[in-house]
Amino acid sequence: MVIVKSPREIALMKEAGRVVGLVFKTLEEKIHPGMSTLDIDAIVEKVMLDNDCIPSEKGYYDYPASSCVSVNEVLVHGIPSSKRILKEGDIVSVDIVATYKGYMADACRTYKVGTVSERADRLVRVTKEAFFESLKYVKAGNHIGDISHAVQTYVEKHGYNVSRDYTGHGIGSHMHEDPSIPNYGKEGTGVKLTPGMTICIEPMVLEGRKETRVLPDGWTAVSKDGKLTAHYENTVVVKEDGYEIITMYEGEE
Ligand code: MF3
Ligand code: CO
Repeated sequence: MVIVKSPREIALMKEAGRVVGLVFKTLEEKIHPGMSTLDIDAIVEKVMLDNDCIPSEKGYYDYPASSCVSVNEVLVHGIPSSKRILKEGDIVSVDIVATYKGYMADACRTYKVGTVSERADRLVRVTKEAFFESLKYVKAGNHIGDISHAVQTYVEKHGYNVSRDYTGHGIGSHMHEDPSIPNYGKEGTGVKLTPGMTICIEPMVLEGRKETRVLPDGWTAVSKDGKLTAHYENTVVVKEDGYEIITMYEGEE
């Protein structure tokens, strides 16, 4: 069941989204070679708590941390660890969810650690561009399949693959609500978009083959072929004539 949000609910989600943006603004300046993925988690947690938000990944199906921090071949759900030290040339995605007064916002960025290879740079760029490409189709009357198709087409045109194992989703008072938003699909299919729907569009892109596997920790999802992966996500409000992104900070590119 797709839940359309009231203006009051959207206002609360926007405050959660503002804090998500603030976390990204902070991380943008702080991520550097030599820090651990647990250091990133500590920053995420502090910025959220200092701003009256709850880091809501912690405890979700017993997930142990305030963020998912996924390096290189880790596509999603990397568990922060003091032993995982970032090095120059890594790409690291940070996926976070904040709750403000019961309402959530969810987003992800893939950061470059120091200077990265042209190969890594292009993957990160195309993943982000796939999100913005799909946004062109977000407005009342269009379908989820239009978003899915736009992501898939853009990613494959650049020689990459989208994951079939993880999808975007609706969001509100729960992290994952209907509808599911795959990164592949057919135009004109699926749920129709209506004003007040709040959705997470999140291209998860693999440089090589599309297959993933989960490590024995039960969370960490890696590319089966060990090649690079990237992830970009925002929470978006559907409007009559378009959309509003609620998880970017002012001035963010
Ligand atoms: N934030 C992720 C998403 O984009 C889900 C994280 S799962 C958790 O949907 F267990 F870490 F919370
Ligand atoms: Co999400």
